[in-house]
Amino acid sequence: MLYEFIASVAVVYLFLMVYFNKIHKKFEKNRPPLITGYIPFIGVALQFGKDPKAYQDHLRTIYGDVFTIYVMGQFITVIKSPHDVQKIYTQPKKFDFHAISHKHALNTFGLPRTITPDHAHDQHTLMVRNLQNLDLDYLTTRARDRLEEMLLTPKNKEWQQVNMHNWISYIIVSVTTRSMFGDNLPIDQIYKDYFPFDEQFQILASGLPPSLKKDAIEKRRKFARHFEQSNPNEDACDLIKLRHEGLTEHCQDVPLGMGHCMGVISWVAMTNTLNATFWCMYYLLQLPKDVTQLIVDEIKSELVFSEGSVLPEITHESLNKLEKLDSLFDEVLRFTFSTMSTRVVTQPIDYKSSSGKVYHFEQNDFLMLSNSHYDPDLFEEPNKFKWDRFLTMNKEPLKDGKPAKLGSFFMTFGGGVSKCPGRFFAKNEMKIFAIALLLAFDIDVVKDGKPSMDKSRWCFQTAPPLNGDVIIKYRLKK
Ligand code: HEM
Repeated sequence: MLYEFIASVAVVYLFLMVYFNKIHKKFEKNRPPLITGYIPFIGVALQFGKDPKAYQDHLRTIYGDVFTIYVMGQFITVIKSPHDVQKIYTQPKKFDFHAISHKHALNTFGLPRTITPDHAHDQHTLMVRNLQNLDLDYLTTRARDRLEEMLLTPKNKEWQQVNMHNWISYIIVSVTTRSMFGDNLPIDQIYKDYFPFDEQFQILASGLPPSLKKDAIEKRRKFARHFEQSNPNEDACDLIKLRHEGLTEHCQDVPLGMGHCMGVISWVAMTNTLNATFWCMYYLLQLPKDVTQLIVDEIKSELVFSEGSVLPEITHESLNKLEKLDSLFDEVLRFTFSTMSTRVVTQPIDYKSSSGKVYHFEQNDFLMLSNSHYDPDLFEEPNKFKWDRFLTMNKEPLKDGKPAKLGSFFMTFGGGVSKCPGRFFAKNEMKIFAIALLLAFDIDVVKDGKPSMDKSRWCFQTAPPLNGDVIIKYRLKK
């Protein structure tokens, strides 16, 4: 029995090695180096999953700026040079985002299979138009009002002690959901079911067969059921109403079809935002007093306060004037940045990299564009946190003497035509939160567990804090 088992493992192993070799050899000329590891199917998933950034940095020292790794049944070509990343961002026809995001959305979020890439493209147009423009002020005002309603309550006149990440997560889940989907969804259940689902993201996105993802699929179902509605709420933003209208025909005979179509929007709006808000507020609370005062002064001078109101009137345009708060947040997002952009190659191409080396990419090659936020040629003293770095950014030349365009190397929201369309709303939400904390509250850090970032989430989403709770107490200023 044991011999049979060992023999069958050896056969599978040999088969996979031949398979890797074939793939590798088939296009051997100019193909990026391939790192498969020694475990069939799993490939280098263990090394990659533990600390994806450190592992990629290590491989870069051996293989250079472009290499392919085999992870859980998938080949991923990693692009490390920031100049190549920029080149790829500017060629969306050859290096497409939507083909991947659509394929991913079908598998990872359980969308109805009748939704084609064309429908997905229409949905993308809708997101960009509404999130970046038509719905932006509506969402921003609603976020302000809901934050005010949650924070400026009589209860908060007394000291409240909270775990900062839990507290912020609940507020972001609540404010984001209510602003986008309307006021009458079950926030407490959405909050409860969000984290078990979010933790399964990597499993859901992996190449594992559905039979091995049952638990993850069940957690996704529990989250999605809160968004299964035959009609959107009256006070939902137009994006949600139009998405509902556009996808109804695909969802009619699919159990929880609409729940999944809306659940993905809720997830995408919250997953990065709640961790990013945590890090922004965490760094905000650590600023020296004189810097905090500069930021407060700017808020008071740039925004309009109506009589008797603690929070100012807020629009996207008015929040844009807060350059100091903007710089602080961009620096936090640079510093704690961990997501990576992905692209798929649409046609066979000989790609000339910025180093002059030519790589052959095949159609459907999956690219992961690495971040350059710690590159000392682009960001001076990259390991140092400088709250005002982005106030002077773009004014000094790069080390190689070329004019600086650091803004384009800031990759927190991706780049090119598929740059995150929710970035303005996300930053507005964070700014309003910060304004409320700075103007209306006394805050004490009771315990700073000096959290690190959960590196296992690196590449996939803004990393949550790990190993070290931050406990604060807050109360409304007297
Ligand atoms: C700090 C918070 C956020 C971060 C760091 C973030 C980051 C990203 C990144 C890196 C991408 C991929 C872009 C690319 O590869 O070029 C993306 C895509 C996307 N994000 Fe965000 N995001 C945030 C908040 C939001 C919010 C609040 C919303 C919605 C209200 C949103 C909606 C989307 C959508 C719909 C896409 C897909 C875009 C497409 O189809 O082209 N994001 N985001």
